[in-house]
Amino acid sequence: MSEQRFLITGALGCIGAWVVRCLAREGAAVATFDLAGDPHRLRLLMDDDELAQVQHITGDITDLGAFEAALQETGATHVIHLAGLQVPFCKADPPLGARVNVVGTVNVFEAAKRVGLRRVVYASSIAIYGLREEYPEGPIGHDALPRPRTHYGVYKQANEGTARIYWLDDGISSIGLRPYIVYGPARDQGMTSQPTKAMLAAALGRPHNIPFGGRSVYQYTEDTARAFIQAARSTFAGAEAFNLGGAVAHVRDVIAAIETAEPSSRGRITFDDKPLPFPAEMDGTPLEAAIGPLSVTPLAAGVQETVELFRRALAAGRLAAQ
Ligand SMILES: NC(=O)c1ccc[n+]([C@@H]2O[C@H](COP(=O)([O-])OP(=O)(O)OC[C@H]3O[C@@H](n4cnc5c(N)ncnc54)[C@H](O)[C@@H]3O)[C@@H](O)[C@H]2O)c1
Repeated sequence: MSEQRFLITGALGCIGAWVVRCLAREGAAVATFDLAGDPHRLRLLMDDDELAQVQHITGDITDLGAFEAALQETGATHVIHLAGLQVPFCKADPPLGARVNVVGTVNVFEAAKRVGLRRVVYASSIAIYGLREEYPEGPIGHDALPRPRTHYGVYKQANEGTARIYWLDDGISSIGLRPYIVYGPARDQGMTSQPTKAMLAAALGRPHNIPFGGRSVYQYTEDTARAFIQAARSTFAGAEAFNLGGAVAHVRDVIAAIETAEPSSRGRITFDDKPLPFPAEMDGTPLEAAIGPLSVTPLAAGVQETVELFRRALAAGRLAAQ
């Protein structure tokens, strides 16, 4: 395992920071590739010694040459591509969203091809699907028809097509993972970051409204990171995008878990009773058949850990109250 060298795009983001933390803690060689920016999520999750193990490369994923140079400089054997703009940012600036999310992903595959890498793991999204009423009840299979309702979802669908063509034309294997609501420390931006913002509000003693309701799949940040790492290490051949399983819960259950973790928040975390525009449940079993079993932190435990980490970080001055 010691010869594995990971390069993580978007590593200053939420999932990226958790991937870097998990890899650094097991002593793996890991490098980041992200825009210039404050590494506040990495600092929230890692101490100075852990951070010192990580190589940082500043670069823009829309720049093919820059990413190819990063692959060469790091001698990466494993690539996890997480750089991207989330739903609100794509809506605000669709051409930029397309450059980062679509061209950026083409660049990752093209650079992999140029340096002879045979596998890429990348983040797709539940947002490739349409409204919950457009699908049958129950967990949605990974091959259910995409009907994206956002620019972001369309870009993610395009990326899955890009991955398939690099497999057909060039034999580059890939796994795309489609997370749903990732929650936990460092989840601080994007449409579905609100449950985590409610956990931070509880730790701060503040009220918070989650502007959606209904049942959804909740994935703890660390579980999500471990799924990406496991996919990157798998021997899967082909190009497939998989739904990621997790804890299926109503927003009410999330609020109840927050109130248990921080009793003073009782009655102060509210929600709007309108569901997210995606199916409620995902079938995560095909992914596990492809890469092996994955652990799912129970919602109550994930919320408890998150609130506790927020409390510790606030007390230590490692997390600014927003
Ligand atoms: N968080 C979720 O619930 C969720 C759900 C489904 C899919 N995803 C996908 O997972 C991936 C990671 O999500 P996240 O929550 O960590 O997002 P995030 O917004 O926290 O982080 C994204 C990172 O990408 C970087 N980035 C943006 N533009 C870039 C560019 N041009 N070049 C290099 N880096 C750039 C940002 O600086 C940031 O560090 C994204 O592709 C996202 O669409 C996330």
